[in-house]
Amino acid sequence: MTKYDFDTIQARTGSDSIKWDYSSQDGVLQPRAGGVAVLAPGALIPMWVADMDFRPAEPIVQALTQRLQGVLGYTRAGQDHFEAIRDWVGQRHGWQVALEWIMTTIGTLPMVNLAIQLFTEPGDGVIVQPPLFNPLVQAVANNGRLPLYNALVYENGRYHLNFDDLEAKAADPRCKMLILCHPHNPVGRVWTPPELRRLGDICQKHELLIVSDELHSDLTYPWAQFNSIGAIDPALHDRIIVCSGPSKAFNIPGLKAAYTIVPNPTLRARLTQGLHNLDLLFSVDLLSTLALRTAYREGGEWLGQLLAYLEGNLAYVQQFVAAHLPQIRVVEPEAMYLVWLDCHGLGLTAEGLRQLFVDEARVYVEMGSNYGAEGAGFVRLNIGCSRRLLEVALERVKTAVEKLV
Ligand SMILES: Cc1ncc(COP(=O)(O)O)c(C=O)c1O
Repeated sequence: MTKYDFDTIQARTGSDSIKWDYSSQDGVLQPRAGGVAVLAPGALIPMWVADMDFRPAEPIVQALTQRLQGVLGYTRAGQDHFEAIRDWVGQRHGWQVALEWIMTTIGTLPMVNLAIQLFTEPGDGVIVQPPLFNPLVQAVANNGRLPLYNALVYENGRYHLNFDDLEAKAADPRCKMLILCHPHNPVGRVWTPPELRRLGDICQKHELLIVSDELHSDLTYPWAQFNSIGAIDPALHDRIIVCSGPSKAFNIPGLKAAYTIVPNPTLRARLTQGLHNLDLLFSVDLLSTLALRTAYREGGEWLGQLLAYLEGNLAYVQQFVAAHLPQIRVVEPEAMYLVWLDCHGLGLTAEGLRQLFVDEARVYVEMGSNYGAEGAGFVRLNIGCSRRLLEVALERVKTAVEKLV
């Protein structure tokens, strides 16, 4: 057994990393001055965009290194590639899929956008469930469709689907599609089979397509169990488009390897034509495709150790916050390395919260208000980093909060 190292702080500054070398101002990336030692006082600790500070699993590194000794020509994904995805989804997501349902893609968001473009018309309504990873809302709005907001309910530190409101939104004659985020970024819910069944029934009744973004599913913690929407009821198969990939769990989002599973042949044919029209089908990205296959065939051991490490990081956050930051409540995630912190107890405005975390503590988190009005008063903390970095970051937040009073 290889023992993987998640403790070493990787030098990422100056590597053109979005997380470490940029910041976002109103959604536009701005280069950030670097060159300071990571833990130096005043250096900004980046805990925002969803990538982790860990090197990839050794089998992936080896496979890519070896492949680089050869020719990097146009490449197809072979049968073994599709089999690796089929086996992974069968074993990990509880869904037995046919090989021909699987499409190779370059990312989740491109497929969500393509599905919106192909299966809805301008002005059609698309249900989204805020607080929500904002590019999913933008995918609706930027394509000239109407986001129909079915906000989640926050009760006793836990989020739920609002089924009455969902039923009402689904009955809107303009409504054609629902975008599901499962696990839900930023709140960390893994939807249970009864929740998915009820949501599926409503979509069935109102003939809505369901685009399910399942990108974080392989990062489910032991206290939850992930089931793909595809595994819930075969009756839903004619209306689901499931988007996923290894980029989050295996920390390879700089590679463009993803897949979409579409059981219905008519929907699949239209998506295939859409990809063809963008010339995204002739050749895959060779290295990304190899990384995906290697992750799914040989990455299980690394992923197991990663999850144990993240669990430790999460426990650390929970203990630290309980002991030193009683004004903050940790919304316990069921998946993901993104932790949703309820900061209402600090009594700060959105700008006050930003000043506290970013200007004063120098910890660069995502502000909850980026995920819709429902996210105001929350921040999203990325704990996909070495424990030491997390310790320093939380210590700095504590000091900043102490200065408030
Ligand atoms: C829920 C969710 N979907 C999609 C993406 C982006 O996916 P991709 O890079 O495959 O387009 C992210 C990235 O953070 C995400 O959190």
